[in-house]
Amino acid sequence: MATIDLGKGMPAADLHDDKPVAGSFGSEDVILVRHRGKVCAFAGKCTHQGAPLETGLVIDGTVRCPWHHARFSLNDGEAVAAPAFAPLDKFTVVEKDGVVTVTGKEEQTRATPSTRSIGKVVIVGGGAAGHACADMLARSGLGGDVTILSDDADAPYDRTAVSKDYLAGDAERDDTALPEPGLGRGPAPNVRTGVAVTSIDVEGHAVVTDDQDHVPYDILVLATGAMPVTPDSLKSAKNVFVLRTLADADALKAAAKDARRAIVLGASFIGLEAAASLTQAGLNVAVVARDSVPLAKVAGPEVGAFVQALHESKGVTFHLDRGLKQFDGHTATLDDGTTLEGDLLVIGVGVEPRIDLAKAAGLRLADKDAGGGGVAVDAQLRTSATGIYAIGDIASYPDPRLGHPIRVEHWVHAQRQGQWLARSLLGAVTGGYGDTPFFWTGQYDASLHYVGHVAKPDDRRIEGDVEAGDFAVFLKEDGKEQAVMTCGDRDEIALEKEAAWDAA
Ligand SMILES: Cc1cc2nc3c(=O)[nH]c(=O)nc-3n(C[C@H](O)[C@H](O)[C@H](O)COP(=O)(O)OP(=O)(O)OC[C@H]3O[C@@H](n4cnc5c(N)ncnc54)[C@H](O)[C@@H]3O)c2cc1C
Ligand code: FES
Repeated sequence: MATIDLGKGMPAADLHDDKPVAGSFGSEDVILVRHRGKVCAFAGKCTHQGAPLETGLVIDGTVRCPWHHARFSLNDGEAVAAPAFAPLDKFTVVEKDGVVTVTGKEEQTRATPSTRSIGKVVIVGGGAAGHACADMLARSGLGGDVTILSDDADAPYDRTAVSKDYLAGDAERDDTALPEPGLGRGPAPNVRTGVAVTSIDVEGHAVVTDDQDHVPYDILVLATGAMPVTPDSLKSAKNVFVLRTLADADALKAAAKDARRAIVLGASFIGLEAAASLTQAGLNVAVVARDSVPLAKVAGPEVGAFVQALHESKGVTFHLDRGLKQFDGHTATLDDGTTLEGDLLVIGVGVEPRIDLAKAAGLRLADKDAGGGGVAVDAQLRTSATGIYAIGDIASYPDPRLGHPIRVEHWVHAQRQGQWLARSLLGAVTGGYGDTPFFWTGQYDASLHYVGHVAKPDDRRIEGDVEAGDFAVFLKEDGKEQAVMTCGDRDEIALEKEAAWDAA
């Protein structure tokens, strides 16, 4: 289909409120939007991974990306909510005599940096939450006061690629890098990699690193994430791999080069993504899991059966309702005596929040059953110690919609908490953190989106055809729809639900 040349103009009557129109200006993709009576034009592709923004949702002064729900301001194109960081280019528009015409690209002018001083900010952890928090502070001109201390040897990267494109061999190492915090606006934060924080001196307002450095802080942000659980029986076994870091993926990729058969323990999202990526890399993969249907506890048996069938169509075999008794580096013995040959075994049985530092510092921890475990924070993401905050996978926070504390292990959620905390420290937001949790998973060509939070769904309502991969499954807890999982053409339902629940 020929795109509209917006440089030549289009009838104003064809541009409806909040329905973006895709076109071009010169060689560039552009979207034209009429919102709250004003017409504006921006680059047409999301700066995260290039989604076409004409299929996004225009709401509350923003356009929300259809793929991973980044939000861009319709005022200036700023990426106001992760996972995108870079702004959209803005174009000038003229509406005259019933015709709307794009006339050029605007010079990028960015908001004046904050003059507020919040003192020295130390962030422990350079993952999703820590990086996004540092970025938002640096975008506001305070990067020079921010230090990230990360025990990962690599500079901040996109962890979601570790089990997907990078493991499958579809992305290079460099492709996984996250942008420099602050995008080059003002001083950059000091990012120290390969440095572990070993303790917090709560009274003295300093952290101690493994190289005996005492780093003082006015504000301390704990963003230590989670680590994979390794069953005791596998702790000293050979050819066993976990997947959390880029280095983990490097080790697995190196082993996979000479391997023919892989065993994946656990049908979690990470386990299934690993199974898909290793299959795509040419290995025969067997999944062993205690569940009778993969993902049924999260999204119901129908979605689980769809995902299982998708894997089976690619050659993956499943050993369900089964536990692993032993793996000797080459042969796995299951609890019913079945043996499976495997050149390597990948563990995907879940993660534990990294709370050692917080625990040793005496910070209040959350109850595992009532708040998902982790570090207890209030609506402003404050821990029980003055000046110390916790965000991302470790934080158990009061979800305003559910009315009780939850801990969430999603990429965008961790980033948004980091961004929210930065804005809160800058005095740019009031109230408490309340974004609706969102995650996606990619396996082969299928992408599933999940919005909301249900610990244990007790009922569900299905729209569409699950078997055909075109569905929305609304998940209920205590009789109320609290989450939705979507796939295919119905992904826009997840986007709309997120916006509706954010506003509730
Ligand atoms: C392989 C993989 C794929 C995933 N894919 C998806 C996906 O597709 N969609 C989705 O929504 N979610 C996904 N997730 C989940 C998502 O990545 C996490 O929820 C998110 O990274 C949490 O962010 P965080 O900042 O809390 O923790 P992390 O990103 O884990 O970052 C924690 C950081 O803290 C550092 N650290 C910890 N302790 C210390 C210490 N004592 N001293 C110094 N540094 C320390 C670590 O090195 C790390 O840099 C995936 C997770 C994995 C492992
Ligand atoms: S492509 Fe837009 S958020 Fe990922």
